[in-house]
Amino acid sequence: MPLVSTAELVSAAVAGRRGVAAFNVITLEHAEAIAAGAESAGAPAVLQISENAVRFHGGELSAIAAASAAVARASSVPLALHLDHVVSAGLLRAAEGHGFSSVMFDASKLPYEENVRATADAVRWGHERGIWVEAELGRVGGKEGEAPLGAHAPGVRTDPAEAAAYTAATGVDALAVAVGSSHAMTERTAALDHELIARLRDAVPVPLVLHGSSGVPDAEIRAAVAAGMVKINVGTALNAAFTGAVRDFLAAGPGTVDPRKYLAPARTAMAGTVAGFLGLLGAPDGGPGSVPGPAGPRTPDQSAPSLT
Ligand code: G3H
Ligand code: ZN
Repeated sequence: MPLVSTAELVSAAVAGRRGVAAFNVITLEHAEAIAAGAESAGAPAVLQISENAVRFHGGELSAIAAASAAVARASSVPLALHLDHVVSAGLLRAAEGHGFSSVMFDASKLPYEENVRATADAVRWGHERGIWVEAELGRVGGKEGEAPLGAHAPGVRTDPAEAAAYTAATGVDALAVAVGSSHAMTERTAALDHELIARLRDAVPVPLVLHGSSGVPDAEIRAAVAAGMVKINVGTALNAAFTGAVRDFLAAGPGTVDPRKYLAPARTAMAGTVAGFLGLLGAPDGGPGSVPGPAGPRTPDQSAPSLT
């Protein structure tokens, strides 16, 4: 199956009135697990690599991008490659030539006018190269290096009229909106504002993107897709599955030295999480799914950085 474009997957999801999930890749095992989970669900998916993940790889995009693209090309279901939460202009430019069909340019920390200017430039650059561009308006909290931002704090939510103006002024292909989710949640307790989602869907002519979906319960994700959310971004839930499996394995076998022994169950656990999320989105062959619980007890990890 060739590497497909994010635009194709999102358009097909819009036409089918369903969601498409985008999962964060940090290691090769993440990419392999996303492909395995998507294959078992019989659903397409997006593999996304964030600027923070690139930083983890020493600032080098090429190796993890090449590995992810190779995994996608070998998959039996359509997979696309997306560069996520890009803040630096240098990384934006690096999207070209590494198999990325889309980029999320994140200027959400800037004041509105600066966000518009920077995002419009990024969109112009992307469209000249056939790259689909997502941007964010409002503040989805919980990003690394940020003070915690209450998802329900005033001023945090995306305003529909402003979102419509922003979309027209920037020319973005999809819009990430703040509707009650927050990044890096290890408990699935977020309550979304479904009325706001419906108002945004009516006001904004491009597909809406839900960030921080790891903290959103199954029923809330299903309702969000029914209300008009299209791209559903998931990262932390994979890391919880990965780390829970490793923790359990090493607790039972503290003498283990071969990483394959614990990376194999970690990868399997992530694949189960991927399949669970895909089953929530009305995927072509997906039945009524639910996200499996973590391998071990999932306790809030207050020090957990956002890995978006
Ligand atoms: O862009 C990536 C997502 O927003 C992931 O958020 O790690 O909270 O699921 P999450
Ligand atoms: Zn995000």
